[in-house]
Amino acid sequence: MDLRDTVLRQLKNRREGFSLEQPFYIDKDYFQLDMETIWYRDWLFIGHDCEAPKAGNYFTVQIGNYAVVIVRGKDGVIRAFHNSCRHRGSRVCTSHKGQSARLVCPYHQWTYDLDGKLLFARHMGDDFDKSEFGLKPVACESVAGYIFICLAENPLDFSLVRAQVEGYIAPHRIADAKIAHESTIIEKGNWKLVWENNRECYHCAANHPELCRTYPENPSVTGTDGGADDPEIGGHWSRCEDAGLPSRFQIDPRGQFRVARMPLIGDAESYTMSGKRAVRRQLSDDVTISHIGALLLFHYPTTWNHFLGDHSISFRVLPLGPEETMVTTKWLVHKDAVEGVDYNIEELTHVWNETNDQDRQIVEENAFGIRSPAYEPGPYSMVHEGGVMQFVNWYADFMIDRLQGDKAKLAVVA
Ligand code: FES
Ligand SMILES: [Fe+2]
Repeated sequence: MDLRDTVLRQLKNRREGFSLEQPFYIDKDYFQLDMETIWYRDWLFIGHDCEAPKAGNYFTVQIGNYAVVIVRGKDGVIRAFHNSCRHRGSRVCTSHKGQSARLVCPYHQWTYDLDGKLLFARHMGDDFDKSEFGLKPVACESVAGYIFICLAENPLDFSLVRAQVEGYIAPHRIADAKIAHESTIIEKGNWKLVWENNRECYHCAANHPELCRTYPENPSVTGTDGGADDPEIGGHWSRCEDAGLPSRFQIDPRGQFRVARMPLIGDAESYTMSGKRAVRRQLSDDVTISHIGALLLFHYPTTWNHFLGDHSISFRVLPLGPEETMVTTKWLVHKDAVEGVDYNIEELTHVWNETNDQDRQIVEENAFGIRSPAYEPGPYSMVHEGGVMQFVNWYADFMIDRLQGDKAKLAVVA
């Protein structure tokens, strides 16, 4: 049986409320199918506008086999291109980030404008038509300081994401921020394990002493009902919305992205050991009240985020292999906030650096145990792991839809 049929059958017959079968977490062919079916076709959060603040600023990213460069043009527009030279395919931009008036391929110096046009190509003959060999564009959208790209030739409509999340993020003014600190860790586990771990706080009390000082274990915070019946959460939403901050729980109909502003524990305002703010110059002047908690935003498969009163934290998930995932965390502060004066890096980053490392260990132990031939799918907690079930349901439904859709298309061609 063809792999796609096997996967379809397994996903359709899976036991609802249970973790996935072993190959979904460890098998290289299943991983490749995830890449082709989700990662190469969906909108992916990739970085922030403030990482390319001026014309010629660029950064690069690798998604599976695709090398991509994101660059701000002279017109101020942020664009994405396949980072593969139209001469013989060399990577054009080889560093993580940089600044250049033009993009020059290091191999034979074909030179591209910031909008991807080929400007120079030495000794290619009189009839060489440069206009045919511009860098290939990648669909790119910027929403309130967040850059998303889509590798598909015919990208899905991004307007639903924009319509639902822009109003929530905009008051935090991420486009006016700067990255105060960035960390990248490699977790030796499948990308879905990273997400499953993220979508519950069943593990928090035993594993995250630092985070648990400020972040509630309440399953409504990670779950799928949004906590509308919880008077504390409902009251928090009303108070924040009265101050002009959209806060109510919203999830898109397919369950791919969600926003909700959740209160922190007690008097806490930020993810610090004391619960006090880590940054004196707060991120946004549009936030006019204190104790706004954390606006939580996730968008599968690449990002979860916490927008606080004083700063904001973004997380980016990128799969490196069936059992290897890269997680990049960025702490965003107001662009005029001064390190050593308005904040210090250790205080700002301590809680999430510890938490990330604890989560890495958890995910790696989870992956380790799943490798055992004795592993079989186990039941999620109905009380605490509603968020995990929501993620796994999204994954299974998405895969089924697409694999069936692809089969139907193939049948028409045949
Ligand atoms: S491969 Fe880029 S100039 Fe030759
Ligand atoms: Fe965790």
